[in-house]
Amino acid sequence: MSAGQHAFAIRQQGLSAWRALERGFDAAFGAGLNPLRQLGAIGFLATWLLLASGVLLYIAYDTSVEGAYQSVAALDHWPLASGRVLRGVHRYATDVLVVVIVLHIVREWLHAHERGVRRFHWLTGVPLVVFAAISAVGGFWLAWDRLGRYSALASAEWLDALPLLGVPFARNFLVLDAVSDRLFSLFIFIHIGVSLLLLFGLWFHIQRLTRAAVWPSRALVLGLSVLLLVLALALPVRSQAPTASLAEPLALDWFVLWLHPLAETSTRGLAWALVAGSLALLLLAPFLPQPPRPAVAVVDADNCSGCERCFADCPYAAITMVPHPGLRGGHRLAQVDPDLCVACGICAGACPSSTPFRGSERLVSGIDVPQLPVDALRSRLRQYVAATNATHPLVVFTCDHGASASIAAD
Ligand code: HEM
Ligand code: HEM
Ligand code: SF4
Ligand code: SF4
Repeated sequence: MSAGQHAFAIRQQGLSAWRALERGFDAAFGAGLNPLRQLGAIGFLATWLLLASGVLLYIAYDTSVEGAYQSVAALDHWPLASGRVLRGVHRYATDVLVVVIVLHIVREWLHAHERGVRRFHWLTGVPLVVFAAISAVGGFWLAWDRLGRYSALASAEWLDALPLLGVPFARNFLVLDAVSDRLFSLFIFIHIGVSLLLLFGLWFHIQRLTRAAVWPSRALVLGLSVLLLVLALALPVRSQAPTASLAEPLALDWFVLWLHPLAETSTRGLAWALVAGSLALLLLAPFLPQPPRPAVAVVDADNCSGCERCFADCPYAAITMVPHPGLRGGHRLAQVDPDLCVACGICAGACPSSTPFRGSERLVSGIDVPQLPVDALRSRLRQYVAATNATHPLVVFTCDHGASASIAAD
């Protein structure tokens, strides 16, 4: 077996395992509440929550070196636990974002979405990982408690391990008293500026999707909000006093700050290799050898009435409407862009001429995907219906990868 075939086999096994997990979650929560089916949308929700809570935190934040720690620590004493909730929501939404990004990448990779049309989404996703990481780590510096100082110093030492940069960042932190208001303004600028870059990057990321699912189901919005609220109250985020004895263990946020202990216990070079290697892999993945793409959708001019349903439904904007070459009077014809079409078949389902209830001998759709034409689908349907003993057979059309439905038919 070649390396490429090995990778393909691993991906197929991973995909089967992922689908089994998705079905398990469907059974437990119902498809509408299944977070695994709405990872990108949860990422958007987490980002909006971060921006909203971030703005409120900033209003109460003292941007000077002396005042920063006190202003953040004071959140713990706000009336009705409001400060605790605000800080907790900001921190735990960050953790949610990190988890969701990892799962989203795994899911998209397992579905081979790094290639073809989705290469655009994949490649525009990679900078989002970097922006989210910088923003999340930089947030800890703002609290300027023991954890924030540890993270700032560890990050600076990590950057110093790369001789290319030539600026000894850690020197600024080795004597922490030397941290100036100007450097602190830079922290704030990085944290807020990079968060805004993330927002812009997200907008770019979904640009080419006609109807990107950027908002989770209402039940999931509610579920996630309640989860963050419960976490904020049950496990309150508290500043760790900078004066605390070094013997006292430092409470880390392992979702965000895992690289610091890794760099300390191994080497900073290894931590760099891990980060640079992972990013390089993400960037190179779309250009690695791929199996051939499936045949794209084909339009049959004689059966296309120009109704535009496929044009409206195609998720990848792969269809344009052009003047019909054989008909006058403003008739239009669907045209498929082979570079954009992923052969999902949604257009064939949308086309009125592909209804399986048409009586014609051979069913020819206005638009069809060659690997499963609607005529073949109708033949299969007839076979299944003929083979069933049910008095009232119920037929459900669903996607192979879609939510598994459990149907009770009498
Ligand atoms: C993707 C966007 C963002 C991420 C991932 C993020 C993450 C974080 C994290 C992890 C912390 C440390 C929390 C802690 O001390 O436990 C933090 C703190 C902070 N962030 Fe953000 N943040 C984001 C956006 C923003 C924005 C847009 C603002 C302001 C407009 C903001 C303002 C603050 C402030 C003032 C703090 C210090 C208060 C505190 O530590 O609780 N953040 N952020
Ligand atoms: C903050 C991080 C991210 C967020 C919030 C996010 C969000 C989203 C959303 C909302 C969609 C549209 C989903 C749909 O309509 O079904 C999407 C699609 C996609 N994302 Fe991300 N994304 C993020 C990062 C990434 C990363 C890091 C990658 C990969 C390196 C990636 C790869 C993709 C791909 C390939 C698609 C297209 C999926 C399809 O066409 O079915 N995303 N993303
Ligand atoms: S198969 Fe149809 S709906 Fe799917 S991407 Fe191609 S043209 Fe669009
Ligand atoms: S291919 Fe079908 S759905 Fe598309 S415009 Fe023609 S008739 Fe309408």
